[in-house]
Amino acid sequence: MAENKTENVVWHNTSVNRDARIQVLGQKSAVLWFTGLSGSGKSTIANALEARLNKSGKLSYLLDGDNVRLGLSSDLGFSETDRKENNRRVAHVARLLWDANVLTLVSFISPFREEREFSRRLIGSDFLEIFVDTPMAICENRDPKGLYAKARKGEIAQFTGISSPYEPPDHPEITLHSDKESLDESVDRVMTLLKERGYL
Ligand code: ADX
Repeated sequence: MAENKTENVVWHNTSVNRDARIQVLGQKSAVLWFTGLSGSGKSTIANALEARLNKSGKLSYLLDGDNVRLGLSSDLGFSETDRKENNRRVAHVARLLWDANVLTLVSFISPFREEREFSRRLIGSDFLEIFVDTPMAICENRDPKGLYAKARKGEIAQFTGISSPYEPPDHPEITLHSDKESLDESVDRVMTLLKERGYL
């Protein structure tokens, strides 16, 4: 039988909850979960969006895939198991930031549908999936870090889109096309979604 490590742990309700924090901060949090291939433009768009939110007086935090992998997930590689564990950790950190009432932006490949659905379930209706749908050929052509070239030469194993799968979302809240719209247009479209949903 699999060991249940939380069997003897009980949830503690804290006296200050998210609703109380909403009152103090005067804003309501959401988790904006960017997913897409390496080089699709996730981090660029998330950065520009965060700058826009900051300018409009909103408290935000961007969990960037590469940065998380240099800290919290520095013990993980790119096998399916490790990517799933990376997703689990990021989902829980995002959940904590959401609970702290921070507008939370998450930008990492997160290639597996099931793991993103796990994040959605954990966060609930404030989870907004943003698919940065840039075709593989364009990402490979951009190759900002030279990683696609290395992967083609076999110097990087399990590279997303080449030797490891990417499962596009079925029902993202919004799909962005960094190859067809400008950065400003993409940011505007997410800002509109946030307004429509009552976050701004
Ligand atoms: S994820 O699959 O676990 O979501 P994550 O977004 O954290 O990936 O990390 C992806 C980044 O790590 C890429 O942008 C790239 O810079 C780098 N990287 C290094 N090796 C790989 C690989 N095998 N597959 C994809 N990205 C890789």
